[in-house]
Amino acid sequence: MIISASTDYRAAAQRKLPPFLFHYLDGGAYAEHTLKRNVADLAEVALRQRVLRDMSELSLETRLFNETLAMPVALAPVGLAGMYARRGEVQAARAAAAKGIPFTLSTVSVCPIEEVAPAIDRPMWFQLYVLKDRGFMKNALERAKAAGVTTLVFTVDMPVPGARYRDAHSGMSGPNAPLRRFLQAMTHPSWAWDVGLHGRPHDLGNISAYRGNRTGLADYIGWLGANFDPSISWQDLEWIREFWDGPMVIKGILDPQDARDAVSFGADGIVVSNHGGRQLDGVLSSARALPAIADAVKGELAILADSGIRTGLDVVRMLALGADSVLLGRAYIYALATAGGAGVSNLLELIEKEMRVAMVLTGAKSIGEISADSLARELNHTAP
Ligand code: GLV
Repeated sequence: MIISASTDYRAAAQRKLPPFLFHYLDGGAYAEHTLKRNVADLAEVALRQRVLRDMSELSLETRLFNETLAMPVALAPVGLAGMYARRGEVQAARAAAAKGIPFTLSTVSVCPIEEVAPAIDRPMWFQLYVLKDRGFMKNALERAKAAGVTTLVFTVDMPVPGARYRDAHSGMSGPNAPLRRFLQAMTHPSWAWDVGLHGRPHDLGNISAYRGNRTGLADYIGWLGANFDPSISWQDLEWIREFWDGPMVIKGILDPQDARDAVSFGADGIVVSNHGGRQLDGVLSSARALPAIADAVKGELAILADSGIRTGLDVVRMLALGADSVLLGRAYIYALATAGGAGVSNLLELIEKEMRVAMVLTGAKSIGEISADSLARELNHTAP
């Protein structure tokens, strides 16, 4: 059954990818309750239908961090995107740029900053973790600046790696993992040919560039895992400010008080996010957390949201709950894995179409007109 383009792409990605990659993408922390709730809570957000309001002139454009976005959507940072399609970050970044929306490169991308930035004709965003190796962070910020990166997205909900039990079962980690991954690649020949063979090098491009040697999946699990810093606090972000004067977005906010602290810090934006249900299982879904956060800080900084967004309808729902814009993670990687950049372009077209239908039928002519007023209060457990 086709419920949405992204469910369709998810099924196709599952057929094409070696299981260790599919489950790494698809899975979440512990029993995956939050992962499921992200999607389920959003699906339950009821919109308020309005009719006969002359909706012939519709604009999806929005301004964010001194940029114009063709629609209030950006591609989220996703580690190892280059394992899902041949030079996957470049393909996805091109699709985003062609659509007129930002692409966010992950710290742990396969393609380095210097490969992706020149491939597109709009500035990209860059994501950074707070890592123990401050030398790496400084180096990455300098290189991002040199490559014309405009906006820095700081992931703060990973002071420790989340427990992703699917990974140990799938061969991403666990006993005999390299052998299992090799056997899985052999039995998924279209991936093996396209990405396994022709998508090389499978480095963590940004980290190799800093360390001056080749890196790979072992470093993803090893170097990165050992480098998460449980001591991080707002003071560490002050340190970043010395190296970064552009827009700075704090990703991984789920609590109104933390959102207020982000305002006090001087952040330009936050991402309301539980890391796609990949960190602490049992926390609120983004859809449920968002209204209280919007009450606390709306208008004082940009509010982005992610976790659970699969369709254009979901984008409109998040905006109605208080977001100014959203990030898409899994939804676009499913499409990228299935059909490369063309898949991402197709998904973005469909998301735009779905947004248009939702805007026409909720009577919102512009992004600014999507608000709590677009929600059918009678039914919403999430409405403020
Ligand atoms: C990395 O950020 C992950 O969620 O795997």
